[in-house]
Amino acid sequence: MLVSVLSLKGSPGATTFAVALAARWPVPARVLVVEADPSGGDIGLRFSLPSAPGLVSLAAAARRSSDADLVWPHTLQLPGGLSVITAPPDAEQASAALFALAPDPINGLAALRTAANQPGTVVIADCGRIDPGSPALSIVRSSDVVVLLSRAHSDDLAHLPRRLPAVGRWSPNPVLLLVGDGYSTAEVARELGVPPMGRVPDDPIGAAVLCGRPNKLRWGRTGPAQSALGRFAHKVAIQLATRDRPSAATAHQSAPVSPPPPSPVLRAVPGVPPDAVSPNGVRLAPEGPGRNDQQQGGQAS
Ligand SMILES: Nc1ncnc2c1ncn2[C@@H]1O[C@H](COP(=O)(O)OP(=O)(O)OP(=O)(O)O)[C@@H](O)[C@H]1O
Ligand SMILES: [Mg+2]
Repeated sequence: MLVSVLSLKGSPGATTFAVALAARWPVPARVLVVEADPSGGDIGLRFSLPSAPGLVSLAAAARRSSDADLVWPHTLQLPGGLSVITAPPDAEQASAALFALAPDPINGLAALRTAANQPGTVVIADCGRIDPGSPALSIVRSSDVVVLLSRAHSDDLAHLPRRLPAVGRWSPNPVLLLVGDGYSTAEVARELGVPPMGRVPDDPIGAAVLCGRPNKLRWGRTGPAQSALGRFAHKVAIQLATRDRPSAATAHQSAPVSPPPPSPVLRAVPGVPPDAVSPNGVRLAPEGPGRNDQQQGGQAS
């Protein structure tokens, strides 16, 4: 299974959530985090990991082999044992590695797709802030599930009506998660026509553990499991793992790739073409008491 985690604007915590999702994925899956962010990696610096192996060495190896187990020698381990393939912090190097890994913008990263096709294997790709020119787009397009994170303040949400239709074209199975406080999930669902799966809790302590910062919580099965962020990620992971969905892996194996049909899930304001949305963005309910539902972690179940 290949899961992409991405954002469209700002830094809503995509890398942190990708690590949380992997750390809290239901056992007994073999889980791998791949930093596929063309703006450069953070995980290696955060956890003081060696600069190799990683995305660059994988890109070089992928030119010579399409072995199903190609990815694993290019992993490093986080303190709890989670496998990661880190991107170099430098954006040019990270982009070059992604372009090298994905020469075909339609079929995606063969090495990651092949690994994710193995039974019991889950590859979680942190694709960073995505746009149509991103070298990570091929990963998004070949993913079984796309997880889009957005903060829920009006300036973040304002971009969604114009950009959600593109996400719907990239993936038939996108999932929207709101982050932190701001407009309620109900308001966002009503105004965007997109029901968010839930709201990632604002949890600086839990996030610090997942970013390698020393903390009273310990890394491992206990640390992320104790935090609100870890518990929420576990709920999302269970939902994603048990979703009844057509497998992109099967589609990629058996048929020539054709453009996906228009997504019924992600669309702009119902009945309003994207161009007709106010230049200021989405029409949102005025701020007032109760606008922040603060059901942190509760909506993914
Ligand atoms: N749920 C959360 N609650 C509180 N803080 C968080 C949360 N998620 C992430 N953070 C913090 O926000 C900062 C940015 O997180 P992160 O690097 O995951 O964002 P990002 O979306 O990957 O950013 P970028 O687009 O720059 O890659 C980090 O300091 C992290 O600890
Ligand atoms: Mg990031």
